[in-house]
Amino acid sequence: MCGIVGYIGESEAAPILLEGLSKLEYRGYDSAGIAVYNGTAIEMIKSRGRLKVLNELTHGGASLPGRAGIGHTRWATHGSPSDSNAHPHFNGDNSIVVVHNGIIENYLKLKKKLEAKGYEFVSETDTEVIAHLLDYYYDGNPLEAIAKIMYRVEGSYALGIMFEDHPREVYAVRKDSPLIVGKSEKGNFIASDVPAILKYTRDVYFMENEEIVCLNKEDVTFYNIDEEVLVKTPVTIEWDIAAAEKGGYEFFMLKEMYEQPKAVSDTLMPRLKNGDIVIEELQMTEEEIRDIRKIYLVACGSAYHTAVTAKYVFEGLARVPVEVDLASEFRYRNPIFEPGTLVIIISQSGETADSLAALREAQKHGCKVLGIVNVVGSSIAREADTVMYTWAGPEIAVATTKAYSTQLIVHYLLALKFAKVRGKVNDIKFREMIEDLKRLPEQIELLLANKEKIQRFANRYLAAEHVFFIGRGIDYAISLEGSLKLKEISYIHSEAYAAGELKHGTISLIEDGTLVTAVLTQDHLFKKTISNVVEVKTRGAFVLAVAHAGNAEIEKTADYVIYLPKTNEYFTNSLAVIPLQLFAYYVSLGKGLDVDKPRNLAKSVTVE
Ligand code: F6R
Repeated sequence: MCGIVGYIGESEAAPILLEGLSKLEYRGYDSAGIAVYNGTAIEMIKSRGRLKVLNELTHGGASLPGRAGIGHTRWATHGSPSDSNAHPHFNGDNSIVVVHNGIIENYLKLKKKLEAKGYEFVSETDTEVIAHLLDYYYDGNPLEAIAKIMYRVEGSYALGIMFEDHPREVYAVRKDSPLIVGKSEKGNFIASDVPAILKYTRDVYFMENEEIVCLNKEDVTFYNIDEEVLVKTPVTIEWDIAAAEKGGYEFFMLKEMYEQPKAVSDTLMPRLKNGDIVIEELQMTEEEIRDIRKIYLVACGSAYHTAVTAKYVFEGLARVPVEVDLASEFRYRNPIFEPGTLVIIISQSGETADSLAALREAQKHGCKVLGIVNVVGSSIAREADTVMYTWAGPEIAVATTKAYSTQLIVHYLLALKFAKVRGKVNDIKFREMIEDLKRLPEQIELLLANKEKIQRFANRYLAAEHVFFIGRGIDYAISLEGSLKLKEISYIHSEAYAAGELKHGTISLIEDGTLVTAVLTQDHLFKKTISNVVEVKTRGAFVLAVAHAGNAEIEKTADYVIYLPKTNEYFTNSLAVIPLQLFAYYVSLGKGLDVDKPRNLAKSVTVE
C-alpha cells in the first residue's frame, strides 16, 4: 500500500521526507519519489525501485533544497511499477504536484474528459487525473479547487498536494484511505501512518473522511468539504515504532484481517457500474464469453482454495464446466486443452514458481490465460494475456487473509458476469446478488467485531493435537482454508474433509474431545451435514459449528455455534472465513508463536 509523507517547517524537507518514507517501507512499495518547493519552483525526483535509489539520486535529500515537500512510496495499482508511474505527479506546467494513496474508480472517465480539453497524460496512473483535475478547477484558491475535485472523484484517496503559488502551504485530504497530521514546534506533517513521523512528534490528528487540512510552518487548519473550519483535538501517540508499524495491532496478520472490509470493497466497487459488472481489463467480448467451453482454475495453497470455491460458483451460476488444479500437478499432468478453454491462474504474489509454470504450459498449448494477481507488474501479471488485479494492498503476514478474501471477490464478479452474458441469471436475481456483494464489507466488519468470543474459544484448544474441518459443497472449500490457516500458524495437525467422506476412513481418528469444526452455510445441504455432525458427536467429538443466523436448529447438535449474517449461498465463504481466520490466529497467539512468520514457510514461493 502506498505511503505518503509531507512536511513544512524550519528544517530541510527532503531528508525528513526520506526518513519518513523509510518508516513506511514495511507497507511494501515498488517505487518512490519526493517533490520540494525550492524557493522558486517545485522540483521532483522519483524512481522505480527501493528508497536506496531515491536516496542516491537526491544525495540524501541534499539535491532538493527547500522547507516544504511531499513524498511517496508507491505500490502499483494502475500501471506497472516504473519511473513515470511513480509519484509525485505534476499537472501540465509543474505548478501543482500530488501524491496519492487509494484508487480513483472513475479515472478513465475523468481522463477522457480531460484529454478532450487538451490535457496530456504522461503516466498510466489514476493519480495523474487528480493533478490535471486540480489544474482545471484551480483559480488561485487551493481549498476551493480541492473541494471541487472531491465532488467529481469517486473511490478512495488520501492526497498530499502542493501549489507553486502557495509555497508556504501543504494541503491534504482523505476519503477511505488513512491519513494523519502531525504537529510540532519545528514544523507540521502529513503521513499515511504514524511511524513516518514518530521521530518528530507524538501529537497527531487522525483525519476523517472528506476532511481537508492546510499545513503551514506554524499551524494546521482543518476544513470540511464546504470549506468551513473544523475544530479537531490531537491525540498523543504512546506506541513505539514496532507497534506503530502494525497500526497498534500485535501482528500483521491481525491488522490484515482487519483490512479485509476495505480490501474487499476496493476490489469490488470499481467494477460495479450502473447496476452492472464492468471488467474492462478482461478484454473479452460477450461472444467470447459465450464461447467458453471450459475453465481451468489453477493455483497453490490458499489461492487454490479460492479456486475450489470458485468451481462451485462458476458451475452453479454460469453453468460452465470447471476443473480445479494445483499448479504443481497441472504443469506435469498433460491436461487436455481444447478450443474454448480459458485458464485462470490465481496468485497473490504473482511469483509462485508452479503457478507461473502452469501459466506457460497453458499458453504453450494456445490457451488464453487470465491472471488474478495482487502484485502489479509481477511475473504472472506480466505474462498472462489479461490480468484482473485484487486490490488488497501488500500482504506482509505469511498466512494470507486479505488476498484470499479479494480473490474470492474476483471469482464472484467473473462468475456473475459470465452468468449474465450467457443468459443463466435473470435481471432480478442479478441485481439481488450485486446488492449481496455490496453488503459483504460491512458483514465482514461485523464478524471481526466478534473477535473476543473467538479468542476465548481458541484458548481452550491450545493443546489440541488434531482438529478436523468438515463441510459440503462450498462449505467444503472453506473447510480446506480453515484447516490450512490453523495448521500453518499453530502447528496443530488439522484436516479438512468433505463431510460425507469422513466415514470412509477418517472417522476412526475421532476421539473423546476431538475438535471438529463443521461449516453449514448451504441450506440445501444443511440436513445432510447435520447427519455428519451427529456421526462425529456420537464418537465423542466436540463440535464447533459455523452457520447462518436463523439456523438455530444446529444448537441441538453442535456444542458451540458461530453465526454468520445472511448472504447469497454462493458468497458465504467470504463470511465463513473470518471466524476461521480468527480462530487460527488466536490459537497461534495463545501458544506464543510467531504468528506472522511461521516456521519453514515463505511468503513468496519462487522455487518448485
Ligand atoms: C497460505 C498461503 C499460501 C499461498 C500459496 C500461493 O496462507 O499464503 O498457501 O496461498 O503459497 O501463493 P501465491 O498466492 O502468492 O501464489
